[in-house]
This record gives sequence, C-alpha cells and structure tokens, in this order.
Amino acid sequence: MKLNFNLLLVLPFFLACTANQNDEKKLSSAKVSEQKILIDTTAYNLTINGKKTKIFELTNQNGVKLLITNYGARVVSIIVPDKNDRPTDVSLGYDSVKTYQKKDEPYFGAIIGRFGNRINEGKFTLDGKNYQLQLNDGKNTLHGGKDGFFGKVWDAKLVNRNTLQLSYFSKDGEAGYPGNVNTTVVYTLTDDNSIKIDYTATTDKTTVLNLTNHTYFNLNGEGDHSILDHELSIAANKYTPVNETLIPTGKIESVKGTPFDFTTAKAIGKDIEADNEQLKYGKGYDHNFVLDKNDGKTPIATVKSIKTGIKMEIFTTEPGLQFYSGNFLTGTTKDGKGGKSYSFRSAFCLETQHFPDSPNQPAFPTTVLKPGQTYTTSTTYKFLVDKN
Ligand code: BGC
Repeated sequence: MKLNFNLLLVLPFFLACTANQNDEKKLSSAKVSEQKILIDTTAYNLTINGKKTKIFELTNQNGVKLLITNYGARVVSIIVPDKNDRPTDVSLGYDSVKTYQKKDEPYFGAIIGRFGNRINEGKFTLDGKNYQLQLNDGKNTLHGGKDGFFGKVWDAKLVNRNTLQLSYFSKDGEAGYPGNVNTTVVYTLTDDNSIKIDYTATTDKTTVLNLTNHTYFNLNGEGDHSILDHELSIAANKYTPVNETLIPTGKIESVKGTPFDFTTAKAIGKDIEADNEQLKYGKGYDHNFVLDKNDGKTPIATVKSIKTGIKMEIFTTEPGLQFYSGNFLTGTTKDGKGGKSYSFRSAFCLETQHFPDSPNQPAFPTTVLKPGQTYTTSTTYKFLVDKN
C-alpha cells in the first residue's frame, strides 16, 4: 500500500523577533518545535454507501492545525503549541476511518445529532404524536441512536484554508426522528487560535434537535494517561442532577457546597472521588451544567494543563454544558493514534448543548424546531498558552 504521509511541520508558533531577553528565551525554546507529526492521510479515504470520506486540514498564521474528516463531521486532531512551542495534539482519535467505524468509542470528535446526550427510553411526544427512537444505551437513546450523525458521511466544501463547511441531509424517520432535516456545520480556525463551530438546520416537520461536538480533549497531549490534574472552571451556579441511568430528574440544583462547584477553578481530580450519589451514577463527572450566561462572548468554561501550559476557553450560545470526565474509557485497546491506548479518565469532554432529555422535560429550554424556523447555534474553543 502506498502511504501518502503528510508531514505536518508545526513551526514556528508565536514568534515575534524583537531583541529583548525574554524573546530570546522564546526563540530558543521555539527551536524545539521542529517536530513532525505524521498523518497517513490515505487512511481517511474510504467509500461508505457510495460517498467518499477524506481528511481536511485547516491552518492559521500561527501554524495551528485542525484536522477534520467528513466521516461524522469529526475533529481528528487539534495541534497547538505548548509552553515550549512544541506542537501538541490535544484531541483523542484514531488513525483511520476504518478504526472510527469499529465504534469502540464512536463519538470521538464527532458532530452529534439529531440529539446530544440521553432521551429517556428513547420516547417523546410531539404535536400529540408518540415517537420511539433507537435504543443504544440500555433502555435509553444516547447521542442520536446507533444511526446518529457521527456515523454519516457529510458533504464537505473547503471554503478556504481556515474554513470547512459540512452538510448532511437526514431523512424523515431516520433513527426514529420526524422531519427531513438539513444540517450545516462550519468549522473555522481563526488567527487567534480559536476553533469556531457554527451550526444551522431546518426541518419540514416539527421535530427536536440538539447538536453538539464530542471532542475528547487532553491538554497534556492525547495519549497522556490522566486529566485529573487539569484545572477547570465552569461558569455555572446550577446543574441538572440525574438518576442511575443518567437521565435528568427534572430538578435544577445549586452546585454550592457540592463536588459540582467549578465556579472557582479547581483540579478535575480534587473532588471526583467524593462520597456523592451523583458522582457514583456517572462513575465521575457526567453531568449537564446550567450556564450562567450564554451570550457567546463570555467564557463559560476554562481548562488548563499545568504540564504543557495549554489553556482552553469555551464560548457558546447554548444554555448547557455536559462535563464528562472520560469515565467510560478503559484503555483496553491500542487503537488510539500511533497505537496508543486511552485509559480511564485520560480525556474530558465539554459539550455545549441543550439539556439532556429536554423533549420530556417541560421546564427545560425547548429543543423543538418547526418548519420555517432556522436552528442556529455557535460554540468556540479558544487555545492559549501560559508560558510560566
Ligand atoms: C455522555 C457519556 C457517554 C459519552 C460517550 C457523553 O456525552 O454524557 O455518558 O458515555 O458521551 O462518549
């Protein structure tokens, strides 16, 4: 087999060449970044149900790279500089579309649709009609069901070196949901090292929709064995507790005095083993936080790796955030990038969303989309580096 290796040379990051001491220090550490990250781009070329899959590369002026495949409209790699300007891939993933298809963890990096997180027993009623979705998580539906958007081949258009547009047409009745739904997701990598994800969708029948991106992050670099040392803050004074199958009870409770209080930054590992029923249900954090603000301009969460200095800020127009601490990763296979195994809590997800099970929870913000309306939402993941 002919391997078409695309040598990603990520150099230089953030180089401003003025002659003071500090900058000299930056310059010498920048040399370390002459490091190659090998990607076999041909491993993403496949034909599934007559549609071609590929990998796309977005870059910005700082050498940051975002790799996306149209299989599941998913983020494959996010390559950002660490505090020594070393290129660091902070997103877990696999080396080929075939491995993504094996579905050990089918959601790595993917766009989730039609409905992020769980719907109780896969049932809901809309305009007096009962709908039954595919069940794929015990007696519940998770992330759209087994026929969800993560396994679809999206139509891709590379708009320019910073922007990729992906579209998917989901037929009426697909995975049990009503309405023909047209979805477009635009990924933009900006020169301030932000990944902006803009979602739009329309339907021809009243339906429910809750789209998100399911990137698994490790800011120490993917393959590092723990995220428990990462410092996290979430601007949420409330969260939605769940039952033992991780369906919200319907209550909206204060985080004050609980392990769910991330209003001030703390290590993810600080309270994760606390004697708390909610943490037991999730095997760690696997909960929806009710965001104090969702104006798209105020950071709703910040995460920092002490090891690499890489920091991520999140902005969104969504009302909720699922914080999942990688509790179902097992590390039993070596399918990860470069043969790595991804062990228990070696990644975290921060999925912007409407609240889980909203179609069955009248007190939660609505997820109903009607013909004539346009679903519009936007989330940004911004990468910074703390050089100290
Ligand atoms: C859910 C977890 C689930 C994971 C699967 C998260 O969004 O909240 O319960 O195991 O996705 O990747």
